[in-house]
Amino acid sequence: MTLSPEHPLFFCSPTRLVVQAGGIQRVAPFCKSRGWATVLIVTDRFFSKSTPLVTSLASTLDAAGIKTFVCDSGEPDPSTELCDRASAEVLAQAGGTPIDAVIALGGGSNIDLAKGLSLTLPYRRPVAEFVGHSNWPGRPLPLVALPTTSGTGSEITAGAIFLQPGSATKVALMGNDLRPLIAIIDPELTLSCPPRVTADAGIDALTHAIESWITMDARDFGAAQEADPAYSGRNPLTIMFARESVRFCFAHLPTAFAEPKDLTARTGMSYSSLYAALSYATAGLHAVHALAYALAGMTHETHGRTNAVFLPYVMDNLVHARTAELAEIGRIAGSSKTDPLGQARDAATLTRALIKRLDMPTDLKAFGIQESQLAQLVGDGLNVVRLAKAYPIQPPQQAFADIVRNTFLGRLSGDTP
Ligand SMILES: NC(=O)c1ccc[n+]([C@@H]2O[C@H](COP(=O)([O-])OP(=O)(O)OC[C@H]3O[C@@H](n4cnc5c(N)ncnc54)[C@H](O)[C@@H]3O)[C@@H](O)[C@H]2O)c1
Repeated sequence: MTLSPEHPLFFCSPTRLVVQAGGIQRVAPFCKSRGWATVLIVTDRFFSKSTPLVTSLASTLDAAGIKTFVCDSGEPDPSTELCDRASAEVLAQAGGTPIDAVIALGGGSNIDLAKGLSLTLPYRRPVAEFVGHSNWPGRPLPLVALPTTSGTGSEITAGAIFLQPGSATKVALMGNDLRPLIAIIDPELTLSCPPRVTADAGIDALTHAIESWITMDARDFGAAQEADPAYSGRNPLTIMFARESVRFCFAHLPTAFAEPKDLTARTGMSYSSLYAALSYATAGLHAVHALAYALAGMTHETHGRTNAVFLPYVMDNLVHARTAELAEIGRIAGSSKTDPLGQARDAATLTRALIKRLDMPTDLKAFGIQESQLAQLVGDGLNVVRLAKAYPIQPPQQAFADIVRNTFLGRLSGDTP
């Protein structure tokens, strides 16, 4: 990608980032330095009941003179209903005491729930009223994010994803003010992830890196005139992070999956996830996520699995439009071919091989999808307009139809006949 003086470069991240084993110890001193009197820890019952983390975090906050409430209602893939219920419970628990900040402890689901609460608690409206626009009554509460999986990057992003009753796909809260004030990435928090969570999150990170690396260029994205662009296409800075993320992922995900207590592999995946997020949180995503949201709406399968199944087929669909980038990914993944197109095709087949090695489905039939459902998947995916409009091939209708059919058949152009 060439640099050009006429085109602005946008880059979005949280205002502070820490990567440190044991970094959770920084939370109380940081909260104290902000002068916060009362904070809310948002987590789930795994962390509150099966680990000492919530109790010890609350006691260090207490020792720092900070009052703490705990909401442990987090669940995988939170819905707008869950967020509203949690909001009512927290307001009842607080009994009129103002909450100064929210601390999210958990995977992407808990961080997204915390982002939702950072708007519903101060403004006391259903979360659905904040979806689809950033014309909020004011700023969300400040957020401290402690991710416990290496994958979603929600600790960096401007979005929070919710299931919404009656909606075929997931919906998003979106706005730069939702980005956490600080993300504390502590690889030790991921050591307890079981292999299935490691695989789901790890392939989510790889999807973020690859999808944002091969997305639309910033100059074609049309966000340059926006007052405060969030997702705005790829640029040289996002590509730099995406490339390093892909390297970390191919080097460390198999070990993190097979040997959960390997702190070197866990740290590698923390970096893979962080770098992927530093890429996609500016560049944005496209077909993999659009179709994954549609498949999740249909099957309620996890975010990692629904991404994983489409990723190789989207890469394959772009081998001509993004040959150089995919060839580089192919080389990182271990391609022994010498021609760029062959390496680009290998990028898709080797990514699918990695997904298979992680015991994840590699075609739509494995989800029980019937051929008669393919048209609805294509339509639902295209309806996630903010993602479909970023696909490098426009208009995207034919490409989405081809990707869905090939994902159904498990067919890649690099497959040997
Ligand atoms: N806001 C964003 O920018 C963004 C981006 C991508 C994905 N997401 C969302 O994130 C969610 C997926 O998040 P996820 O993949 O991190 O999983 P998750 O947060 O849904 O967690 C999955 C399960 O793993 C458990 N878990 C998490 N960390 C653990 C640990 N260290 N040890 C043991 N168990 C642990 C959780 O308790 C939960 O039961 C989806 O809802 C997706 O839509 C959001």
